[in-house]
Formats: sequence, C-alpha cells, structure tokens
Amino acid sequence: MVKKVLLLVSLIFIGMQFYRPEKNISKTYSTSIFEKETNPPTPILTTLQSKCYDCHSNNTEYPWYNNIAPVSYWIDAHVVDGKKHLNFSNWEQYSTKKKDHKIEELVEEVQEGEMPLKEYAWTHGSLTEDEKNGLIAWAERNRVIYQYALKYKNGQLAN
Ligand code: HEC
Repeated sequence: MVKKVLLLVSLIFIGMQFYRPEKNISKTYSTSIFEKETNPPTPILTTLQSKCYDCHSNNTEYPWYNNIAPVSYWIDAHVVDGKKHLNFSNWEQYSTKKKDHKIEELVEEVQEGEMPLKEYAWTHGSLTEDEKNGLIAWAERNRVIYQYALKYKNGQLAN
C-alpha cells in the first residue's frame, strides 16, 4: 500500500514537470519610462530591481528552483497577481491619479513591511531600514509632483 502511494505521488510529481508556466521575460528594458518619470537615485533603483521588479514588471529574474514544479506554478501565480495589482512596465498607461494612488500604496506596503511578500523575502531578504527609508522618501517626492499635477490640471486650479 505504502509503495503504491509513493509510486502514485512520484508519477504525479513527474507529470507536473511537463507543464511549465510561460516565463515573464520581455525583450526590452520594460521599466525605462517609469524610471525616467520617477527618477529613483541609484540605490533606490537597485532596491526596486532586486526586490520589486520580479513581481511588478515584465521582467522576472528566475531562481534555479523555478525549474521544479510545483514551485514554478507558485512563483508564476505570484508574478501574475503582483503584475495585476501593480506593473511598473505599464506605468505610461496609468492615469496621474492612478500613479499617485499606486505610489501611496507603495509607501503603505513598505512601511508595514508587507512587501516584498514574505515567501520571497525568505530567499531574497526583506528590506533593510535604509532601503525602506530610501523608498519612502523617493515615493513621497513623486507624490508631491503627481498631486501638483492633479491640482493644476491644464494650468488651471482644479477643484
Ligand atoms: C514575490 C512577488 C512580489 C514581490 C517580490 C513584491 N510584490 Fe508587491 N505585490 C505582490 C502581490 C501578489 C500583490 C497583490 C496581493 C497583495 O497585496 O498581497 C502585491 C501588491 C503590491 C502593492 C499593492 C498594489 C495595489 O494597488 O493593490 C504594492 C504597492 C506593492 N506590491 C509594492 C511592492 C514593492 C515596493 C515591492 C518591493 C519592495 C514589492 N511589491 C515586491 C507580489 C510581490
């Protein structure tokens, strides 16, 4: 009985290896517009690249264990969900209001230690205090600009 169960589990595991979720890798440097617009200083850009873009851009840097199912399914689900909520590669498609709101969310998530997701932080490390402070300061500066843009639409003071 135990042998049969083990055999079945092994077969399921082997079967799973045949399905590979499509990788999230675009050919271009997809976050360039976002970076030109928000101008993150080099250390902040490094943090975004190493701890956020994997789930919030069109370019994920996959770890070796992504070659093993069901880990690959699990990583894929995080990437799909992360991009649905926030995709820095689609920044130019967001309205000013949406950009301002996403940056506001970013400050909250970082302050509360919610991002990067804890499963990701186990392998990639969570944010250091310096990284958090840097991200928040850069984000707040950008919010000032977005809010100014919202307030003075077309050179007129908007209500
Ligand atoms: C392992 C994947 C992963 C990584 C890495 C990651 N995120 Fe996320 N992020 C998600 C997922 C999934 C969601 C949506 C579900 C949730 O809020 O928990 C999300 C939601 C968010 C949201 C909320 C967006 C909204 O409007 O709902 C913000 C802001 C955010 N992440 C910022 C960041 C920042 C900043 C980093 C880097 C410090 C980061 N994330 C790293 C997966 C990730």
